[in-house]
Amino acid sequence: MRFSQDFLDKVRDANNLVDVISRYTQLNRAGGRYVGLCPFPDHREKTPSFSVSDTQQLYYCFGCKKGGNIFKFVEAMMGLSFPEAVDWLARQAGIPIPQEMYQRSEAVVAHAQERKAMAEINEFAIQFFESELRQSGPSAPVKEYLKKRGLNDETIKTFRLGYSPNDWEKLSSLLKARRAPLNLAEKLGLIRARSQGGNGYFDLFRHRLMFPIFSLEGSGIGFGGRVLGEGEPKYLNSPESPLFHKGQVFYGLSETAKFIRAQDQAIVVEGYMDLLALYQAGIKNVVAPLGTALTEDHAKLLKRFTKNVIVLFDGDQAGRDAAERSLPILLGAGVLPRGFTLPDKMDPDDFVRTQGAEALKGKLAEAPELFVLILDQDVKGYRGTSAEKVTLIDKMAPVLATVPDSRLRDLYVDEVASRLGVTGEWLKEALAQSRGSQRPGLRTANKAVEAVPTMESTPPPEVSIIKLGGKRPKAEELLVNLALMKPDYMRLIVDLGVVQFFAHAGLREVLQRAILIHGQMPNEFDKLTALLVSQVDLSEVLFLHLENHLENLNLEGAQKLIADCNRKVQDAFLKSQSRQITTTLRGRPAAEQLEKLEQIMNMHRQRRDRGSERDPNSGAFGS
Ligand code: GTP
Ligand code: MN
Repeated sequence: MRFSQDFLDKVRDANNLVDVISRYTQLNRAGGRYVGLCPFPDHREKTPSFSVSDTQQLYYCFGCKKGGNIFKFVEAMMGLSFPEAVDWLARQAGIPIPQEMYQRSEAVVAHAQERKAMAEINEFAIQFFESELRQSGPSAPVKEYLKKRGLNDETIKTFRLGYSPNDWEKLSSLLKARRAPLNLAEKLGLIRARSQGGNGYFDLFRHRLMFPIFSLEGSGIGFGGRVLGEGEPKYLNSPESPLFHKGQVFYGLSETAKFIRAQDQAIVVEGYMDLLALYQAGIKNVVAPLGTALTEDHAKLLKRFTKNVIVLFDGDQAGRDAAERSLPILLGAGVLPRGFTLPDKMDPDDFVRTQGAEALKGKLAEAPELFVLILDQDVKGYRGTSAEKVTLIDKMAPVLATVPDSRLRDLYVDEVASRLGVTGEWLKEALAQSRGSQRPGLRTANKAVEAVPTMESTPPPEVSIIKLGGKRPKAEELLVNLALMKPDYMRLIVDLGVVQFFAHAGLREVLQRAILIHGQMPNEFDKLTALLVSQVDLSEVLFLHLENHLENLNLEGAQKLIADCNRKVQDAFLKSQSRQITTTLRGRPAAEQLEKLEQIMNMHRQRRDRGSERDPNSGAFGS
């Protein structure tokens, strides 16, 4: 099921691209548009080449060539899929997502409703735990515990920490009183039905510090609850549920994503507390998996925000093992992992509290590549025996096989070779023979469930995507862009009938589609480009008209340019037709030959006529 065009229009109209972009970069008015520094982290620039059209609701960066409409921006900037972006924008504008937007089948509608109800229960529980924390006295154990861990009010508020009271049914009875579906609260792991004898439910989180876990869009999907002090289990975590898949979620990411993007770097720590401690110390580009090993899905999720990942694991054997396990997963996803293990059984939380944020920043700045770190770990105590060499090669071969970039792989091979005291060539040979050189099966979390599983992550309109690759004649590209600039120019170009002579099939189709859509909604010219952008594979082709020299054209200049381009397109068409006809004419029936010849003559005549209007010398046959 896709979103209806009506719904998408509504969502787009209710949001303003200039406002959305202004959250990420300062925009200044310049003529008919806004300009500013490109907000995308992979394009750091000092002079503004990022341009936003308020009337057309389009953005384009002349530096890094990224451009699109509001949906595209939210997708790219927030690392969301298309349906997630639509969902986010709809929420921003307070537009409810109509039920038909979810799959038509009853099962899926039911599923979506269930997820919605579950999200509501979680939100209710978050607020309940928050209020329990607020209402607890200053000497309550949870307050004492928070003080001991050094978490301040701002951090508590930002991450919506809470307290589950020491009570067997406070939450259950509140949910019951609200007539919340208790079976769903049970699925979420908040309450459980009493087994024998009793009826009703009891609370599962009791007397714990509550860490709500949020989806990327910021809705509550699960909880971690920590004992206040010593006790088992230290953390009680929500079970997997239709909302919550541990292998696909990072704790904190909904809050820290913007910092990760801005700094183009993510720091991965192991625990909730580590994340909060770093965040509070001003190191905010942090994520933490939920007590599980890093999965391939985690790595892919990170890569939506940055390629630069630093893993910061606890200074114990478990931490070192976790770092080692994450290496092939991160490399396989194409991120550039660096890392370091903390000294003396410390975790990142201990480290910032005892050494300070600056010391940690220093460590982060000089963190070695994770590959090198692991390698050094593995060659510790290495004495150079053949058996050790073989063991190490067998161990490194599968890791190296995960590196998609062959240049990086070669560099790593050299690193290994130098540790082993062998040449790179020898090592390559040895690696090829190693049993482990096949890409290992990587851990992957359940793929069947996506963040918004009931909507397809394909572009909205039920139309094919026009391909704009290959060599594009400049005149055709200009005509398309001129047509998209002003209704007047569109009119001129339509009247010339030049579109049928376009050599580039993609550009021809775009212009035809533009003419068609404009005919259907002549009063909504400003929306035309934004609509087309989502129907082509190379959107930058449609952004030339935001460029200065086109924008500064006056009517006369534009007319001249259009006439010029028209002539060029027709000339090119004529030439290719003549060539084609000449080669195919031989051996055809006389009638057909004559007909084609007449076509050629006509074209040349037209061209001569046109030429003579402006240049009496340009009408020569076949020039
Ligand atoms: P503190 O011990 O309070 O500093 O917490 P931490 O965040 O540093 O936790 P730690 O490094 O011990 O563990 C890392 C992560 O593993 C935690 O944040 C949890 O997600 C998870 N974890 C730790 N202990 C348990 C447990 O007993 N049960 C479960 N399910 N998860 C745990
Ligand atoms: Mn800790």
